[in-house]
Amino acid sequence: MVRCFIMALIVLFFLIHLSSAEPLLYDEVLTRPEQIHLSLTGSNSEMMVTWVTRNSTGMPMVEYGLAGGIKRSGQQMQNELGWPKFDQVAVGETDTFIDGGSLHRRLYIHRVKMTGLKPKQEYVYHVGGALGWSDVYFFMTYPDGTTWSPRIVLFGDMGNENAQSLSRLQEETQRGFYDAIFHVGDFAYDMNTDNAHVGDEFMNQIQSIAAYVPYMTCVGNHEGAYNFSNYKNRFTMPGGDGEGMYFRKPVCLRTELKGHGLSRCVTVQCTAQTAMILNTAPTCKTLYIRTGVNLEHSFSAEQLLYKYGVDLHIQAHEHSYERMWPVYNLTVCNGSKSEPYRNPRAPVHIVTGSAGCKEKLDPFFRFHTEWSAFHRDDYGYTRINIINGTHLYLEQVSDDEKGAVIDKMTLIKEHHGSYDCHLGKK
Ligand SMILES: [Fe+2]
Repeated sequence: MVRCFIMALIVLFFLIHLSSAEPLLYDEVLTRPEQIHLSLTGSNSEMMVTWVTRNSTGMPMVEYGLAGGIKRSGQQMQNELGWPKFDQVAVGETDTFIDGGSLHRRLYIHRVKMTGLKPKQEYVYHVGGALGWSDVYFFMTYPDGTTWSPRIVLFGDMGNENAQSLSRLQEETQRGFYDAIFHVGDFAYDMNTDNAHVGDEFMNQIQSIAAYVPYMTCVGNHEGAYNFSNYKNRFTMPGGDGEGMYFRKPVCLRTELKGHGLSRCVTVQCTAQTAMILNTAPTCKTLYIRTGVNLEHSFSAEQLLYKYGVDLHIQAHEHSYERMWPVYNLTVCNGSKSEPYRNPRAPVHIVTGSAGCKEKLDPFFRFHTEWSAFHRDDYGYTRINIINGTHLYLEQVSDDEKGAVIDKMTLIKEHHGSYDCHLGKK
């Protein structure tokens, strides 16, 4: 009887153990690289690549080279099949990430920096090591200097369910439309869900764009679980706080923004003389512009953006698109009646959080404020071309309307610096 009881306990123990363990697929390859994505480092001769394996793999490596091969001793660096040889190798580091969910899943996050890249060239690369290599991907390096015109696609709030814009983004990215992708917070919905399997699925979904073009990110409210650990571990952003919560290059607003409770949601990018700030905290929406909520002094970025002369402020969180007139403290501050965006007297705010996720769209109220220049609650994303140090072109693409451009703006800043709208009319 006692023996039967002990046997029953042992069987019960194994049943419990089996039910709590992560089920393994029969032919799962645990050392094959997945979730491969590029990011900028701050140097045009470098490119960071980050990927994941489910098991430990030893030294992570990237083999890479010019897409057409390079000529050495008069010979093209190709084998008999014409496949370009990878003539450069970089090694990197592996972090072990343990998700905070009940299974405490362990992921191996590999980060390798490619160096010695030539400007304005196409490179091919694959990642992995002795236990398995990825497919081959390609990317373009940037031209030297700051006189070129970056083409950026921006969006927020894209999940792995109902990521409606992703197919169009794949098509355009692989056709070479963009130099960088900015995902302005709110990923996967959410990366920690189902013991972080949703995060894995999302990162594999965006590999189709992020393995070809730097995928630059800042954090959103959906990344908050377990102290933002899925977000912090899965991306590799330059500068900022060292944890990837935002990145910057080379703007100096960090200290001020931290002091105002925004350290977890700010991304700063500075290209040529155009300063953009991207975040996921709704500083302004259709109904109101916030210069600070008195009780807790949260959302008080507006005064900082105004004081430091930020040209363009991109945010998401609201699942819609909206372009504002230049505005400060509930006052429209257009450059002039005929040219509102030429030398505006306050920052310009754009909301672009409609790439697509399972929470669908956020509808607008029936009435609108005077600073709302254009709004649309359908799925899509935003393109920006920073033409030069004074001109920035922005347009909104509707995925619902098969890629049609539904809104556009050219922002012209002939001088940069703090604004004067608070002084009243000129
Ligand atoms: Fe969202």
